[in-house]
Amino acid sequence: MLQKVFVTALLVVQLHLKHNYFSSLGHDDMTDIKSLNPPEARFPIGVGLKSQHYMDVLEGQPELAFFEVHAENYMMQGGNHIRFLEAIAEKYCLSVHGVGMSLGSAEGVDKTHLAKFKEVVDRYNPWLVSEHLAWSVHGGHYLNDLLPLPLNATTLAVVSENIDIVQDAIGRQIFVENPSTYVSFNTTDIPEPHFLNSLAKKTGCGVLLDVNNIYVSAKNNNIDAHAYLDEIAGEHVGEIHLAGHTVKEVGGSEVRIDDHGSHVVDDVWSLYQAAIIKFGPRPSLLEWDTNIPSFDVLMTEAKKAEAIMMNDSSDEEIRYGAA
Ligand SMILES: [Fe+2]
Repeated sequence: MLQKVFVTALLVVQLHLKHNYFSSLGHDDMTDIKSLNPPEARFPIGVGLKSQHYMDVLEGQPELAFFEVHAENYMMQGGNHIRFLEAIAEKYCLSVHGVGMSLGSAEGVDKTHLAKFKEVVDRYNPWLVSEHLAWSVHGGHYLNDLLPLPLNATTLAVVSENIDIVQDAIGRQIFVENPSTYVSFNTTDIPEPHFLNSLAKKTGCGVLLDVNNIYVSAKNNNIDAHAYLDEIAGEHVGEIHLAGHTVKEVGGSEVRIDDHGSHVVDDVWSLYQAAIIKFGPRPSLLEWDTNIPSFDVLMTEAKKAEAIMMNDSSDEEIRYGAA
């Protein structure tokens, strides 16, 4: 009898949450999401899609709300990667995450790269598009890394203009991710959370909050990760990233490297829990880009995020966009 009551209660909770999953969307957005035929996941948890896991996803059809792909990996016109992604996109929502737009470049964004980025966005109609608060291009040379920039009025104007250009070109809002940093600049006079809040206000972009990046930057630069979180305006946060990092000894000092190659550490899970308590439920993504594990390992991490969202969310509706 008790078991029957529990199962009934669970079904009621699931139906309520499923309703919230869609009802937080505006009417037009809801139409867009439904047209992508997402799985009926209870919570919006996703994982980064790696080619090693294409068959796990297609054959296993895991209970996930979305997959995130790096735009640059799908800028070609055809081939197996495109075919696999098209098959996966028939069953799941996608999030397109750029890593080469170089929003921090004073010389502006590369128009050729932007055109290819737009092609990917147009082809897959993802529910969310994101990029980084970083730079990676100078004089036409791509440096294959997400490099930090000083945060001040000058760079706020530069990054805002670049975001405007990208949003105008693709015709939709982008979400800007806080980077992992290893150094700080003497010319920074705007704290990073305030810089992100200002970008959102000035350009209408959203914030993709990577709690592992907050932790890595906080440890490397001796700041308080939870105080950082307190300064973020939650209404702009449309997605949260989780990932692992590594610890290296450099010149006698401990440095945390954001390599996405291991399990999320306990301190970052705590920060994620704090973010969910502070902001309410948000679509959350597990990134694992090096030392790729089996898909089961990724799912175990995703289930951990789901459990935190389930246990620590308020009744607030799940937010699928940013104010
Ligand atoms: Fe991230």
